[in-house]
Amino acid sequence: MIPREAVRVLVSNWDGNHTVPSRRLYPHQWSWDSAFIAIGHSRWSPRRGRAELLSLLGAQWRDGRVPHIVFNPRVPDGAYFPGPDFWQVRAPSGTSTSGIVQPPVHALAAWRTHLAEPDPAFLRRVYPKLVAQQEFLRAARRSPEGLIAIVHPWESGMDNSPAWDQPLHAVHDRPTGYVRRDLGTVDADERPTDRDYERYVALARAYRDSGYLSPGAFQVEDPLFNAAYGQAEHVLALIAAELGLDPEPHRHEAAAVTAAMVEHLWDGALFQPRDLVAGRMIRSDSAAGLTPLLLPGLPGDVVERLISTALDRFALKDGVLPSFSPAAPDFDPVRYWRGPSWVNLSWLIWQGLSEHRPELARPVAEGIVRVIARSGFREYFDPFTLRGHGCSDFSWSAALLLDLVAEHGLEALTPPGGEVAEEQGSVTEADDIGDQVPA
Ligand code: SER
Repeated sequence: MIPREAVRVLVSNWDGNHTVPSRRLYPHQWSWDSAFIAIGHSRWSPRRGRAELLSLLGAQWRDGRVPHIVFNPRVPDGAYFPGPDFWQVRAPSGTSTSGIVQPPVHALAAWRTHLAEPDPAFLRRVYPKLVAQQEFLRAARRSPEGLIAIVHPWESGMDNSPAWDQPLHAVHDRPTGYVRRDLGTVDADERPTDRDYERYVALARAYRDSGYLSPGAFQVEDPLFNAAYGQAEHVLALIAAELGLDPEPHRHEAAAVTAAMVEHLWDGALFQPRDLVAGRMIRSDSAAGLTPLLLPGLPGDVVERLISTALDRFALKDGVLPSFSPAAPDFDPVRYWRGPSWVNLSWLIWQGLSEHRPELARPVAEGIVRVIARSGFREYFDPFTLRGHGCSDFSWSAALLLDLVAEHGLEALTPPGGEVAEEQGSVTEADDIGDQVPA
């Protein structure tokens, strides 16, 4: 039964106060992973969902940034590259972190966690942290168009999307002397190339050497990042109202970023990134361009056109959404973010469809359940063969599956390898949550 298998994955990846995305490939805490994972935890253990978010936000910097990795000091040096020695950061909490960010999907996760088990004290605790997270983005990353810029492909969460090929050409440095740890776990054909890694390392090193202040050769307005930012303001308005605070500034900001996205990132069929260094739109076929469906205030004609694009270029009706359009020449069905189907991206688009066209949302939920039933809780999937790729027992695949099954009352299916043995026992919230839940 899949939901029980999903909980098993989450329990086996639990590390006392957070969940690792994957034991071997990603052995620390990742920012947007934790948000998606909290949404899944809240379906069976809201307490773990709250702990997940509180531990991540506990590593927030004084300037409000929520780092994309929070390093676990108990994990051996060298288990992940680039690790704490590379980033050279200590957050105010004393924890080692990276210095870049990821899409701000955490307000949504906090709200979903609260809805699962209302807890005003939790909301009161996280609200100022979530506001500070948004304020950092406004203060440090706001472009003249009123959009938020990312300064590294890792900040998009979609590291090697073909959309970044063009802006990455501006990065010339070729650092050496590091060892990629990812290739010890996953086949090189399924991961970013060495050339991509050289550029990732060069960009991160330059940003680090500026004291994490000056953006370097890569500055991009990404539709997914901005959609998450705008949706976060919408959700912060709901949280503020719940806490008896003024929701209006959040509503205003959500409307402003929605309007700026339509003005600057909409190409008439899909939302596109803009390269701020080159000063032009990047024409690509990334499914990130569908995620502005998350914005409740998106104009009706844009919604309709965007859904036509999803049907024509991303096989929306089939329910297994590729991360990049299969019709594009740079599509690759197995290489990380260059085409495979990912559960979190499909889930974000499912959320957007639930907002605007609920009748189209269910097939996407069913597609996610189908692919996991076929191939297990893999990191990503070939959208045609449905074969799994990347690492196994990947946390957000399990977490978001739990959310979708609960939301749609979907049938529990049998995972590959047959029935989950009863002797695994029922995993309930009573399981040891550890003694590290932030006080
Ligand atoms: N996704 C990156 C990795 O592959 C970093 O966030 O390690």
